[in-house]
Amino acid sequence: MFENFNVPQELRPTDPRFGSGPSLVPVEFMTKLAETGTELLGTSHRKPAVKNLVKEMQEGLRKFFNVPADYEIVIGNGGATFLFDMIGLGLVRKKSSHFTCGEFSTKWYKSHANIPWIEAENIASEYGQGCSPANVEGSDFIAMTLNETSTGVQTIELPQVDDDTILAIDATSGAGQIPCDISKCDVFFFSPQKVFAAEGGFFVSIMSPKALKRAEEIAATDRYIPTIMSWELAITNSVKNQTYNTPSIATIFFLNEQVKLMNSQGGFTHAIDYAKKKADMIYNWANEKDYLSPYVPNEADRSIAVATIDVDDKYPAGDLIKVLEAQKAVYGIDAYRKLGKNQFRISLFHNVSYEDLVKLTKIIDLAIEQA
Ligand SMILES: Cc1ncc(COP(=O)(O)O)c(C=O)c1O
Repeated sequence: MFENFNVPQELRPTDPRFGSGPSLVPVEFMTKLAETGTELLGTSHRKPAVKNLVKEMQEGLRKFFNVPADYEIVIGNGGATFLFDMIGLGLVRKKSSHFTCGEFSTKWYKSHANIPWIEAENIASEYGQGCSPANVEGSDFIAMTLNETSTGVQTIELPQVDDDTILAIDATSGAGQIPCDISKCDVFFFSPQKVFAAEGGFFVSIMSPKALKRAEEIAATDRYIPTIMSWELAITNSVKNQTYNTPSIATIFFLNEQVKLMNSQGGFTHAIDYAKKKADMIYNWANEKDYLSPYVPNEADRSIAVATIDVDDKYPAGDLIKVLEAQKAVYGIDAYRKLGKNQFRISLFHNVSYEDLVKLTKIIDLAIEQA
């Protein structure tokens, strides 16, 4: 189906990238990076050019998220998946409880469950449903996911945890546009290739004094932790605006550009408002069309960062996606591969413009209504 569909010129989005995997990196950022010429790429991460960039990025994030002064912005290589293990090894004392509702939150749970010297508990919601994280008696670590990227479910309510319990949030695809009060989290971590428009392979972990103390406590035990996963090394290097081992400077450059951009536009509040405006438009559209429906039934659970929209089985979404990609008009709106749904998963990340999203909805309508 859809093989004869042509995207009209006036509906072509200004940027075809609507993917929720890595999000679009603005072309202007790439131009700016090229303009640094011989001054940045190819420089040691222990030298001022890179350290100043890292410092600017850390200070920018501090401002953006209104991070309390006694929290540290810890950075390193490896991304969120790497952190799943690093956190399990270095921040859980005896037991972690995981509130899961999709592929990524479950992956995090599984990585802790594989560690022989801690216990991991999975408190699972059905895919598409929301989570209600809470303190768990006997657990010293609560894990929740701000935005479950595989299903498009957001979890906004933060639980009140015991004084000696760590509340950790995988914020990979929500950080920056889904509301979250960092002062109520102990570990708020993300990879920067989503809202923050950088590339993968890097992590940011914003940590409270309680989390920093926990890292120190576990590092002082005889538990084996691979050096590359040492929180002590990650923290001491981050405080000096460095990473433990060599980072991709381009990734940090893009992240810094995005933080500067978002701060200049009105910061976190503006980013949340813009995300809500786009999400309202997309979910209203899906509700209005009889061949579409939001995958997530409960309105409050619907993500304002990644929208999952079911399509009537009469119209194979995959066929349309292929046609749109072949015409270089729209990339990356496939459902999460393991979800196996006839669905569009559409990124609402900050740099995906409202106007382009409107065009995307019109393209899909036209294609389906002509089919
Ligand atoms: C919620 C969530 N957690 C973790 C990850 C894994 O991130 P990375 O690929 O940077 O390890 C992703 C990636 O999409 C994600 O969306």
